[in-house]
Amino acid sequence: MPLPVLNVGSLNLDHIFRLEHFVRPGETLAARDYAHSPGGKGLNQSLALARAGGRVFHAGAIGPDGASLKVLLQDAGVDTRYLEEGAAATGQAVIQVDDGGENAILLYGGANHTLTPEQLEAAWLALPEDAYVLTQNETNLTEHVIHEARRRGFRVVWNPAPITDACRQIPLTSVDYLIVNEVEATGLCGFDAEPDAMLSVLHSRAPQLQVVMTLGARGVITDGPDGAYQLPAAPVEHVVDTTAAGDTFIGYFLAAMASGRSLADSLKQATAAAAWCVQQAGAAPSIPLREQLVR
Ligand code: RIB
Repeated sequence: MPLPVLNVGSLNLDHIFRLEHFVRPGETLAARDYAHSPGGKGLNQSLALARAGGRVFHAGAIGPDGASLKVLLQDAGVDTRYLEEGAAATGQAVIQVDDGGENAILLYGGANHTLTPEQLEAAWLALPEDAYVLTQNETNLTEHVIHEARRRGFRVVWNPAPITDACRQIPLTSVDYLIVNEVEATGLCGFDAEPDAMLSVLHSRAPQLQVVMTLGARGVITDGPDGAYQLPAAPVEHVVDTTAAGDTFIGYFLAAMASGRSLADSLKQATAAAAWCVQQAGAAPSIPLREQLVR
């Protein structure tokens, strides 16, 4: 039985526009296509965890317009007992996807910024001591969640996305697994450098920290107490949309770790899932089921 994961994370309604290029200042641009779908880094990561076979509890908040997000999580097997339904509107994301499959995202936090420490109290008390606690940076309380999870002895996994200046104030000594892309690594380091250099700077700031850095088409590198590896990306025929590729990676990685797989094995699973994700459109709809990865 895999160890449980409590994910304190965002839930968004995504509005996705496909365009020739990202809109420039002062420009009005007609989109080629529009779709709406479930999203939010937190929701995507919970969904990926569940689809990978993990045991996941999602704590977060939605408004009256977010009922479909809760149903989606529940249908995937995510436990939503710590998901609050309040008066504030559900988080929204306006996502531009260009012809190369790259994205640019505009966020409205809404209900994601209404979490309270009291809401999490029951979850802390119910979790077994070997549980993982995962969070991102798309809700309020990020620092509180990391601090409390560490204080209570859980394994702390942090994906500081989207990166903000406030992330640099959070002590990495409270985190066990830090999962970043190059932009997030640059933000945390305070300077831009080659991935290897940023990896060792982050690792040197906290000896207990396993840093996992995703490099898109160049794969993933990691360093920390569980070992140092470099893994190529899994083959991709055609990139359709990179949205939620990082979230898919994190969910699959953590599901594998929580079921006792090695770090190297977990990274391999995660890169295969992320490669599948970038070949489909949308956020949540592009997260594979385990069966879809078995060739
Ligand atoms: O990581 C992708 C997600 O970022 C989207 O689903 C969007 O909601 C934003 O949170």
